[in-house]
Amino acid sequence: MADLLKKIADFFAQLFSSYSTEATHINHIFIAFLVVAGLVFLLVLGLSVASVIRFHARKRPNEPKQIFGNNKLEILWTSASFIAVAVFFVISVRSMEAINTPVAKNRKPDIVVIGHQWWWEMRYPEYGFTTANELHIPEKKKLLMRMESADVIHDWWVPSLGRKIDMIPGHSNYRWIQADTAGTYEGTCSEYCGAEHAWMRIRVIAQTQDNFNQWVKAQEEIPAIPTDSLAREGAKLFQSKTCSNCHTIRGTAAEKRVGPDLTHLESRETLLSGMYNNTTENLRQWLKNPQKVKPGAHMPNFNLSDKELNALVAYLEELK
Ligand code: CUA
Repeated sequence: MADLLKKIADFFAQLFSSYSTEATHINHIFIAFLVVAGLVFLLVLGLSVASVIRFHARKRPNEPKQIFGNNKLEILWTSASFIAVAVFFVISVRSMEAINTPVAKNRKPDIVVIGHQWWWEMRYPEYGFTTANELHIPEKKKLLMRMESADVIHDWWVPSLGRKIDMIPGHSNYRWIQADTAGTYEGTCSEYCGAEHAWMRIRVIAQTQDNFNQWVKAQEEIPAIPTDSLAREGAKLFQSKTCSNCHTIRGTAAEKRVGPDLTHLESRETLLSGMYNNTTENLRQWLKNPQKVKPGAHMPNFNLSDKELNALVAYLEELK
């Protein structure tokens, strides 16, 4: 019970927390709407209850006086709602203006995010590497993201950092991203995109500039050829079992972009778009039978033997 209450409290804390100017703007509109809607709700509820008590049939057995229309009241509530809508319209447009700062024509994106069924590809054109599902950004920096889709419509949403944005096949959308403080911000795909839509989680990891630079340096590196014999065996299997037909591991013959880039798989905290923590056991279960772990995912079951599984896991875990 205490656990559930904590979960509910955390949910509301997240709901009202913002870690960027963009999210703060949106939060203010949300709270303003909530307050006005709450007042209207209380007013209607109050009047209904008061009427039920005051005009109860037992107190007034005779038919009440029949009336029609009331100009004053009608003008009052029509203009009150008109004013409320007009005020919210102005607030919304001003926030949209503040959030969607225009993008200069020749401004190149800092990050390209591509939605796939059911994971996120993140490219850093400036540095030339690609990663998946966990977006690293430096804190307090306004970066431009280009949002694309490889298949169907997805929708990027990390509430504490701001608005949603659709990712549409054949059309690029742009949005800015900024986190005021270092931390991990969770999000999710918020446009139904198929069987595993619920498991398209996003993690934005905002870091101090130093930590971010370190991360970039590590990502730029090409992983060393494994020295351990089991991992070497795994590296061979990775090619012969055709994993390399879909995935990239830089420094090897695997350079396809159908599935997530695995060059630094071990540097990620989670697997399968936030479905599991990145542990040996979880990785093993996934490779053993992907369709059991994430039904519908585009990774086939290779019916690997225990020996092959050990070798592949040993190899993938060297990709730090
Ligand atoms: Cu991608 Cu829902």
